[in-house]
Amino acid sequence: MKWNLFVFFLFPITFYQCQKESLNYESLAIQITKEAKSNLQKKLSTALAEGGTTAAIPFCQQNALGFTAKMGKANNVTLKRVTDKPRNENNRLSPEEMMVFQEIQKQKSSEGVFPNRVVSSDENVTVYVPIPLMGQCVPCHGKKEEMSTETKTTLNKLYPNDMATNYQIGDLRGLFVVIFKK
Ligand code: HEC
Repeated sequence: MKWNLFVFFLFPITFYQCQKESLNYESLAIQITKEAKSNLQKKLSTALAEGGTTAAIPFCQQNALGFTAKMGKANNVTLKRVTDKPRNENNRLSPEEMMVFQEIQKQKSSEGVFPNRVVSSDENVTVYVPIPLMGQCVPCHGKKEEMSTETKTTLNKLYPNDMATNYQIGDLRGLFVVIFKK
């Protein structure tokens, strides 16, 4: 009897609660990463307008990591950007993140959209939000042979081990990782 009660009544409630919980974390993560993305892009276009890639690349080097971490702190989460082909080695994904990255990469929809992924453990809920490559990213992450000379020179100087080139529009450039403490 008790077991039936659990299966027919309590289990659906527990299941529903879990679903709801992960949906809330996901929508929060979407909000946070949307804001981070639009702020990063705004800063980037200002730097580009003021001094082209020769100014914007060092600007990113000095500010991108710190800004992302600060945005996370302000929202009580750990926020980072990770990728399989890093420009900044500090953004290289962990083996666990690599598995999620490859899974998300495989699940690109016919409209070209990558799905989010929510992973829950006892202590944390981690939401992975894909970062697709867009037209405005091409000057610094596109084909090397199509880059301007000053962009190539600046990148070579500041990032001699740069891996983050030769992307095409629509490629999965990286992931935002948003970690909520339970
Ligand atoms: C002006 C050149 C420039 C443009 C344009 C640019 N980026 Fe970057 N990007 C950089 C630099 C420089 C870094 C390394 C930042 C650092 O050292 O923390 C970087 C790092 C990244 C990273 C972190 C992973 C890594 O490789 O270190 C992601 C993700 C990323 N860029 C995505 C994008 C996307 C998406 C766009 C377009 C919306 C874009 N970038 C446009 C220069 C650029």
